[in-house]
Amino acid sequence: MNAVGKKDAARAAELRELIRHHNYRYYVLDDPEIPDVEYDRMFRELEALEEAHPDLRTEDSPTQRVGGAPVEGFKEVRHLRPMLSLDNAFTADELVAFDRRVRDRLKAEEAIEYAAETKLDGMAISLLYEGGQLVRGATRGDGQTGEEVTHNVRTVESIPLKLRGRGHPARLEIRGEIYMPKAGFAQLNSRLAERGAKTFVNPRNAAAGTLRQLDPKVAASRPLEFFAYGVGFFEDGVLPTRHSEILAMLRDWGVRVSPLTQVVTGAEGCQAYYDEMLGQRDDLPYEIDGVVFKVDNVELQQDLGFVSRAPRWAVAFKFPAQEVTTVLNGIDFQVGRTGALTPVARLEPVFVGGVTVSNATLHNMDEIERKDVRVGDTVIVRRAGDVIPEVVKVVQERRHGNPEPVRLPKKCPACGSDVVRPEGQVVARCSGGLVCPAQRKEKLRHFASRRAMDIEGLGAKIVEQLVEQGIDGREIHDPADIYALTADQLAQLERMGEKSANNLVAAIERSKNTTLPRFLYALGIPEVGEVTAAVLARHFGDLDALMAAEVNQLEAVPDVGPVVAQHVYEFFHQDENLKVIAALREHGVSWPTEVPTGGAKPLSNMTFVLTGTLESMTRDEAKKRIEAAGGKVTGSVSKNTNYVVAGADPGSKLKKAEELGVAVLDESGLLSQL
Ligand code: IVH
Repeated sequence: MNAVGKKDAARAAELRELIRHHNYRYYVLDDPEIPDVEYDRMFRELEALEEAHPDLRTEDSPTQRVGGAPVEGFKEVRHLRPMLSLDNAFTADELVAFDRRVRDRLKAEEAIEYAAETKLDGMAISLLYEGGQLVRGATRGDGQTGEEVTHNVRTVESIPLKLRGRGHPARLEIRGEIYMPKAGFAQLNSRLAERGAKTFVNPRNAAAGTLRQLDPKVAASRPLEFFAYGVGFFEDGVLPTRHSEILAMLRDWGVRVSPLTQVVTGAEGCQAYYDEMLGQRDDLPYEIDGVVFKVDNVELQQDLGFVSRAPRWAVAFKFPAQEVTTVLNGIDFQVGRTGALTPVARLEPVFVGGVTVSNATLHNMDEIERKDVRVGDTVIVRRAGDVIPEVVKVVQERRHGNPEPVRLPKKCPACGSDVVRPEGQVVARCSGGLVCPAQRKEKLRHFASRRAMDIEGLGAKIVEQLVEQGIDGREIHDPADIYALTADQLAQLERMGEKSANNLVAAIERSKNTTLPRFLYALGIPEVGEVTAAVLARHFGDLDALMAAEVNQLEAVPDVGPVVAQHVYEFFHQDENLKVIAALREHGVSWPTEVPTGGAKPLSNMTFVLTGTLESMTRDEAKKRIEAAGGKVTGSVSKNTNYVVAGADPGSKLKKAEELGVAVLDESGLLSQL
């Protein structure tokens, strides 16, 4: 090799090491040292060098993740040690019984230390490293033999092609889970749906389907990630004698291990870990279906041994299922505040995601058609966190006979007006406007709701009576009518005593002092949620300026697109709406004028991490509001985080913030930042 060649070879080797180091910072430590652009620059430099001198290309070069042509089929792989499964516990008693069995067998006097891990809902994978190089990836299969999927495993960027450092055994088989994060799954599905391709039911199926692709380019284009949870086999080397230390060692070697792993003591420690993870479940960027406890001391693991296909030293404590099957008894169409008809599935009641569910959304007619849902079908229902339960899929094999396809009603089920569904639009609407009692009820309920005008005591039941019966023979037509109600009139309603009537009138009176964002949100302009209402209020400062805005001025507001701009413009150009607004102002509804910003955002360039339960909003709402104010919300705390917002029962993120000296805000602190 000449001098230039030597220089290039040295630079290529240096770049590979640098990229490997920054991958480790990014994927394993979740604490990048350099911005993405800098990383990309190194990557491109290496690619260019290898392009110019193909002999510099090594198997383990970070540029070589996507290998050559698609494989023709999957080779069978016999596992070096069987890949076992886990016994499950579903209740606290079963967990206690597991711990007792362990102690009895070991004749242990003192409490046992367990490595506590999350149970990732993906695909088990075996990674074989020889001399520190990744040589094979295989699925679990039946536990004895799996399928070789090295070509796809290599595309997963959080799996190192070469281990860091030294001292690894000559052969080392690492086991863990490949999964697809929730956000990546949603993006993949919408991409597939756009193309008219079949979508995946859940992230787990998407991960499994991706690993079984013959062409590594497909896997490379999908967001798979990896966490290691153990070592299956090793040769020529020594490993620590505690499971938790083995995981720490893997992390040092550049292998990604869940940061939620802990060591806990006794059944009590296990229960506390379970409770903590159950609380965090819906906020994690990936799905977990439980937690796993493993006797931490490897010698004790060996003493305990195995029964049939599962170790005696480990147990999976499962969370309540978020997906179950049940029977669809019927479909009703509900009319919302803008007249949109939403098909609602009436289900045989089932326990899912920790509660009993008998209704689930079917979203719209397109969804019903796409999923081919028919009455009488057995369906998979999903309920995750505070998200509305939904029908994800029909179990076609369990369909009896040939039930009729579902049809969109021609008339509104609430008022009998025509249902219209303009060409190319997904949503069908009742054309009845304020004539439709369902729309009126929903509009009023929304107007009075806590996050809008906040009229305490004016809930769904009262609104229903007001709309259905009217007051003194007069219809309650729109929000302005609420401000004309007297205590005597209200006292005529069912189950409304004199005292509650007086309280309600007082609450109505109080609501007159409001803010512009609340008022705008309360008006129920289509597509204008709280965040958009706040953005509009800040931008224009006052209602009159907003009402006078042309479509192009509205579109100039950050985060307001053409659809929203059109809706806002149309809303303020309908006589009916102008009359209601004027009447509300006449009744004394008012707000302080905002200082118009013309677009500057208060939280620009600030990074937030949320933990614990907030009172006035869900974490999802908080995220949207922070983003609308120009901020960014990330999943983990690093020194680049500006604020950690801690609600009730905060998780480990609060601890991390304290360790790193990151500022912590409580809920009111966040609200004032917003
Ligand atoms: S340990 C002998 N740890 O759960 C121990 N498994 O039901 C074998 N899984 O096939 C597995 N997260 O795919 C273990 N932290 C974790 C896990 C985990 C998810 C999966 C794994 C396994 C299945 C067993």
